[in-house]
Amino acid sequence: MERKKRLVVLSGAGMSAESGIRTFRDSGGLWEEYDVMEVASITGWQKNRDLVLRFYNERRRQLEKAVPNEGHKGLADLEKYFDVHIITQNVDNLHERAGSTKILHLHGELTKARSSADPSLVYDIGYRDINPGDRCEKGSQLRPHIVWFGEPVPAMDEAVQIASQAEIFVIIGTSLNVYPAAGLVNYVSSEVTVFLIDPSEVYVPAGRRVEVIKEGASAGVAVLKTKLNL
Ligand code: APR
Repeated sequence: MERKKRLVVLSGAGMSAESGIRTFRDSGGLWEEYDVMEVASITGWQKNRDLVLRFYNERRRQLEKAVPNEGHKGLADLEKYFDVHIITQNVDNLHERAGSTKILHLHGELTKARSSADPSLVYDIGYRDINPGDRCEKGSQLRPHIVWFGEPVPAMDEAVQIASQAEIFVIIGTSLNVYPAAGLVNYVSSEVTVFLIDPSEVYVPAGRRVEVIKEGASAGVAVLKTKLNL
């Protein structure tokens, strides 16, 4: 059995758009309806904890009704042919539910809660709400296990390691607006082909060999497979 090439995916909100989960910066995106600094930042949490809890409770309930789309499933299927590592900015569990096995969540996970006093205390809560007064075993308020604006991205070092060893790199459904995640492309060897799957124009740092697939996730992953002769 020959060694499988390492195919690394960097996915963003557009990956889950066809599953009915809103993106952030498209027209009609989440940040048009909510002030990101009120509901997705550490200062927002300190200012109005209950509003933040409600925001993520709504998103968890929406996730329970969503299902993986053909794009998620197509990426899971690529594991037959490649050593696939998914680095996602998404906090949904749709890559997992589609069957992908190596997934790194840069911005946390909706289906987990964590102690607001001890970040090592993380709990699987599925799609259940987190309410004011829900406490960890040390008595502090539970919070969403999400990386908020103003907080560090603990998984970034691991993500850089994975991206630097990519032999094929696929960017799908992200506007590459948010750092440090967007900076991952810079760690990909300039020898490596970068496939960009997005219905819009997305700027990718210069010096890369970019093959644009101007499609949504489902159609785009199907095109990717033909380009990979699968
Ligand atoms: N298929 C693929 N891509 C799509 C689709 C689709 N059906 N629909 C929209 N897109 C693309 C958009 O063109 C855009 O480039 O998905 C991208 C979504 O960009 P953003 O809304 O900025 O989402 P993302 O890049 O993931 O945001 C990064 O910002 O708000 C924070 O923490 C949050 O992880 C998020 C981060």
